[in-house]
Amino acid sequence: MAILGIESLIYGVNDIAESERFFDDFGLFKVQSSRDRVLFDLDEGSHVELKIISDPSLPKTVLAGTGVRETVWGVDTIENLEALVSSLEVDREVRRDKDGTAHFLTDCGLAFALRVYKKRGLISCPDPTNSPGNEARVNKSRKWWIRAKPKGIEHIVFAVEDYMKSYRFLEERLGFKLSEYQVEFGIYLRCDGSTDHHNIMLHDFNKGGASGYPVFDHANFIVENIDEMQAGANYMTRKGWSYGPLGIGRHRIASALYCYLKSPAGGEVEYGCDSDRIDDHYVPREWDMLFGLQSWMSFPPDFVRSHDAEPYSKQLANGIPAHIRSTADLPEGVKLA
Ligand SMILES: [Fe+2]
Repeated sequence: MAILGIESLIYGVNDIAESERFFDDFGLFKVQSSRDRVLFDLDEGSHVELKIISDPSLPKTVLAGTGVRETVWGVDTIENLEALVSSLEVDREVRRDKDGTAHFLTDCGLAFALRVYKKRGLISCPDPTNSPGNEARVNKSRKWWIRAKPKGIEHIVFAVEDYMKSYRFLEERLGFKLSEYQVEFGIYLRCDGSTDHHNIMLHDFNKGGASGYPVFDHANFIVENIDEMQAGANYMTRKGWSYGPLGIGRHRIASALYCYLKSPAGGEVEYGCDSDRIDDHYVPREWDMLFGLQSWMSFPPDFVRSHDAEPYSKQLANGIPAHIRSTADLPEGVKLA
């Protein structure tokens, strides 16, 4: 075990006051606020930091526009941190802070950092759920939510030029594990010390109506259940914020419930819950691109294609063949399984 997950997201924003108001309403706990820096803490020990996009302390990155400019990954021990830094220093500059944080660029130009992470365990108290023949909650009402209060950061998504090249870097240099491959679209990976379904998703910036250039897409914040998610969404819309194009639904890949909101800090922000958990026994799958995007509840719901995975996915028992190191190695429509 080495990397546990996202320790901090460092945003570069145009309007820091508007971005602060957004994350306040979103339900993050603010611990510092000034004209040029705002800091939020989450229960698991992770952080969201807002800075002005022109702040010279923000790293140079391949990304265009506002949004997350640097992703800080949390490492379990100082020994593992130093081992990762030593291996990175072989072929790139690694800049160190006084506290040991190590900043560097990935092979595809994303700004990452590594920092020792005292990740805290999370506690939730889900209500028993009744269903036909299953009386799990008797003489007791459900807990009712007023607002959402996300407890952790589960994943981040970027649109990149070559997701396969980025995948190889994350796998070989930082120990990330393949979760899923969505044909011709992108790749889902988790940290080696995490059972989150994925901690990063990288997709082709030329596919699926994407940007056409490298950008931050969204960050996912976990809540307890669909009730907390909907309470958060209701509060946000009452405060004048808007849903992203996908709104609320459930992802076919990872099974996760989602709610996307447009963010003044750049990209979108996602409430998420009830995602699949996976470990080293999980066999990654290859998914048909369009099937992998299907979900229920969104606009419009598509139940026809969303129920049966078998015709649209295959197990990648041997992973992605080692010779495929770039999306240029993937002929049009190629299947790996
Ligand atoms: Fe997401």
